[in-house]
Amino acid sequence: MKKTIEEHADRFSDIAGDYDDSQDSEEYRACVSLVVDHADPDDDDTVLDLGTGTGAIALALAPHAKRVIGRDISEGMMDEARTKAEANGIENVVFGEGKFRDPNVDEEIDIVVSNFAMHHLSDDEKREAIEAIAELGPRKFVLGDVMFFDLPDPDEPFYSPEVDDPSTVGHLADVLTDNGFSLTAVERVHDQVGVLVAERA
Ligand SMILES: C[S@@+](CC[C@H](N)C(=O)[O-])C[C@H]1O[C@@H](n2cnc3c(N)ncnc32)[C@H](O)[C@@H]1O
Repeated sequence: MKKTIEEHADRFSDIAGDYDDSQDSEEYRACVSLVVDHADPDDDDTVLDLGTGTGAIALALAPHAKRVIGRDISEGMMDEARTKAEANGIENVVFGEGKFRDPNVDEEIDIVVSNFAMHHLSDDEKREAIEAIAELGPRKFVLGDVMFFDLPDPDEPFYSPEVDDPSTVGHLADVLTDNGFSLTAVERVHDQVGVLVAERA
């Protein structure tokens, strides 16, 4: 991780009020839509959204699931998510502190999702995060994120090299399969953005 957890949390809390308006790229919207479609929870499923931020994914899935748990390190981002949940009368979602490598969850999880958040972790930290996700025992993990399908063009990075640390699709696929998942879909949104669907064999 190129910044500490606290630095990332402060950075996101500082921009929380403007975050939704700033996410206007076609690739981000495509990722949100693909993560929601692939998560496809049943009405008796509990879904965990890691790096939930202002709740884009959690709030979209809540009407289709039994319960959605959003976890993040930034209280400012989660305050925005809580405000939106209340404004929309969504009552089966909770937001609270939790990290990728220590999600702070003690209930059974059916589906884990994460969008545009895991790229803050280094390759080794992503391995630890995916081990922690596998330990929760979900049948499916849907990851939308910045990830390299090709060598990134240094003149047109989709990410901020000073704070972000995206992995190759190959590294993510290796770690997911090492942890008992099979890749059932790979969606290439851009040569630096994609969605991976990992399911238990
Ligand atoms: C770019 S936002 C994405 C938010 C949301 N998932 C979305 O699709 O709009 C990244 C989020 O990841 C959170 N985050 C960064 N590092 C994290 C970590 N180690 N554990 C949990 N959340 C983290 C940040 O606080 C931020 O809210």
